[in-house]
Amino acid sequence: ADEPLVLGIETSCDETGVGIVRGTTLLADAVASSVNDHARFGGVVPEIASRAHLEAMVPTIQRALDTAGIKGSDLDGIAVTAGPGLAGALLVGVSAAKAYAWALDKPLYGVNHLASHICVDQLEHGRLPEPTMALLVSGGHSSLLMTTDITSDVRPLGATIDDAAGEAFDKVARVLGLGFPGGPVVDRMSREGDRKAIRFPRGLSGPKDPAYDFSFSGLKTAVARWVEAKRRAGEEVPVADVAASFQEAVTDVLTRKAIQACRDNGVDHLMIGGGVAANSRLRAMAEQRCERAGIRLRVPRPGLCTDNGAMVAALGSEMVWRDRAPSALDLSADSSLPV
Ligand code: KG4
Ligand code: ZN
Repeated sequence: ADEPLVLGIETSCDETGVGIVRGTTLLADAVASSVNDHARFGGVVPEIASRAHLEAMVPTIQRALDTAGIKGSDLDGIAVTAGPGLAGALLVGVSAAKAYAWALDKPLYGVNHLASHICVDQLEHGRLPEPTMALLVSGGHSSLLMTTDITSDVRPLGATIDDAAGEAFDKVARVLGLGFPGGPVVDRMSREGDRKAIRFPRGLSGPKDPAYDFSFSGLKTAVARWVEAKRRAGEEVPVADVAASFQEAVTDVLTRKAIQACRDNGVDHLMIGGGVAANSRLRAMAEQRCERAGIRLRVPRPGLCTDNGAMVAALGSEMVWRDRAPSALDLSADSSLPV
């Protein structure tokens, strides 16, 4: 049988993403981002995001269908991010998905945003091994999850107790005057910096701390204090060194805990996803440490790590493939949907 052809819609934050996937093959990945509209506010403004989704939704769906060279009637299902995310933003995607599912008489699949971030790797590296450990790091999440079946069994082992990793990147970028979103620019600046220049704290890394939880708020404050002290002393802030040293502290903790989780649970496949997985230092360090630990590493290409519709379509297709029950047409968005 042909693998299921599914269209996926993602609107949990500031990207309107529509992807089309057949099984584990990517056919289209259309994204319209409102990121520039939020830049002057230093963070995503929910109201602006919802409005932008509303404007971009139908044209982005059309663009994806055109790219894939298919008609809506060819689809085996329509998948949509039901949560977690911004309530108003999610609602735009869920409403659109319901309308298309109803109009085309296709099954509707409400999916979890975190599970989609994991499942997207299938488009790059084929079906996920079972079990797989997933380190999910984005602007809204930093979690360690273990999965034996991406459609039905995703177990959270730990998460951040304060800021998400991406949030820390965004805040440190602001302190350094580098703009928003901070991740890509801190990543770029770091290449010219010395990552050993400053030893910033590694949160929750003591022997009595929870093994799989993260904390980045103390690190963010330590960076802000360090920079402030320099400025107060009238000294120049070595921006590249601060960026590189901060990035080193984040990626050190993330990779160490992820590998520990693999070891403790006898899992030898680690996938890293979410916007922060686009980080070049995180990718390099994870590669090195996984190789040393005998763990197979899977990281999707950066364009698939940040929010997109293809990841939703990938999980939707997997649900059809595994004969999972579709959602009812009264599906609602849930801003704090658990995995
Ligand atoms: O997954 P994502 O697109 O949206 C959420 O679900 O949050 O992640 C966005 C986050 C932002 O905080 C952004 O600064 C961060 O991912 N990010 C990066 C990089 N590219 C994006 N962080 C570090 N290094 C990068 N290269
Ligand atoms: Zn995300």
